[in-house]
Amino acid sequence: MKIAPSILSANFAELKKDVSTVEQAGAEYLHIDIMDGHFVENLTFGANVVQALRPYSKLVFDCHLMVDRPEDYISELATAGADVIGVHIEATPHIHRVLSQIKAAGVKAEVVINPGTPVSMITEVLPLVDQVLVMTVDPGFGGQAFLPETLKKVEELAQYKRDTGAQFEIEVDGGINDETIKQAAKAGATVAVAGSYVFGDEPAKKVALLKAAVADQ
Ligand code: DX5
Ligand code: ZN
Repeated sequence: MKIAPSILSANFAELKKDVSTVEQAGAEYLHIDIMDGHFVENLTFGANVVQALRPYSKLVFDCHLMVDRPEDYISELATAGADVIGVHIEATPHIHRVLSQIKAAGVKAEVVINPGTPVSMITEVLPLVDQVLVMTVDPGFGGQAFLPETLKKVEELAQYKRDTGAQFEIEVDGGINDETIKQAAKAGATVAVAGSYVFGDEPAKKVALLKAAVADQ
């Protein structure tokens, strides 16, 4: 299981330091939540922050787009140094085109589903993607409670991988702590995002606790 601390809950005045803390602690990914105040009501940051952090970190920059018109963000994010770009199926009628655009830009492509969206909505694009993100809360804010019923979709995707030999990562995002990460790992998740749990206090210790919680998986 790879750990992806979400900078949404980091100290924005100390971003460089917070990123370095979780990197030293052994996190593999850095989760970057890009929100536009339309697809979700919250507003965060964009490619400028990705570009600013890029020289200081070797972590996999995992950019989660919670925006309308995701196609408008791809080229700038690719240039800024994104390693993975995730697009919500709920945000575009042209998911195949946007995922193809991400791959053409040389970036790993991810499709994201909200808690209310079934796996059947993304079946046709599963052969295209490098990663699938199953939201385990409704997107928009950190610090919300984990929705355990979303894990049946993680199980369904894990079964699809076994049936087809597909290699994509299965990521979970929202309400992850040292207990819920175990449930997610058991269901077949391979990347776990954690925001408020990690950056609430003692981020290095929290990354270690997450890794320890799934060490036997
Ligand atoms: C929510 C974001 C998450 C958020 C998770 O819309 O996509 O990445 O940072 O925060 P926690 O881990 O606090 O639920
Ligand atoms: Zn996210």
